[in-house]
Amino acid sequence: MTLSSELIWQDQQHQVLFELIDEIKADHVDSTTFIRLNDYAEHHFCIEEAYMQALEYPEYEAHLQSHNKFRKELQHMLAEHSEYDAQLRDMLSDFLCEWLRRHIFGVDKKLEAFIMHSERK
Ligand SMILES: [Fe+2]
Ligand SMILES: [Fe+2]
Repeated sequence: MTLSSELIWQDQQHQVLFELIDEIKADHVDSTTFIRLNDYAEHHFCIEEAYMQALEYPEYEAHLQSHNKFRKELQHMLAEHSEYDAQLRDMLSDFLCEWLRRHIFGVDKKLEAFIMHSERK
């Protein structure tokens, strides 16, 4: 795990997640977009979880549960749908966007502050 000197990585990764979620609304979208989103979310969650474990973050369990909820929702979407019409894509994209926004301004903000105050940011 590379420990950067600023918490820029977290911001950048969130930005990529929002872009992928936005892409779901595009006309050309198919299941590969969801798979890329799934892979990238997994990559991002694993990094945050590695930091929490390395720094013995006191709210690790609750944060992990929140990530797991997102993982489950995405898996559910991938399993439930093989075709995505515009209405469904808008609904899924809005749902994921709203979830991510709440997560970022909630538990991720707290984690960010904790990491920034630690000596291993
Ligand atoms: Fe998180
Ligand atoms: Fe995050």
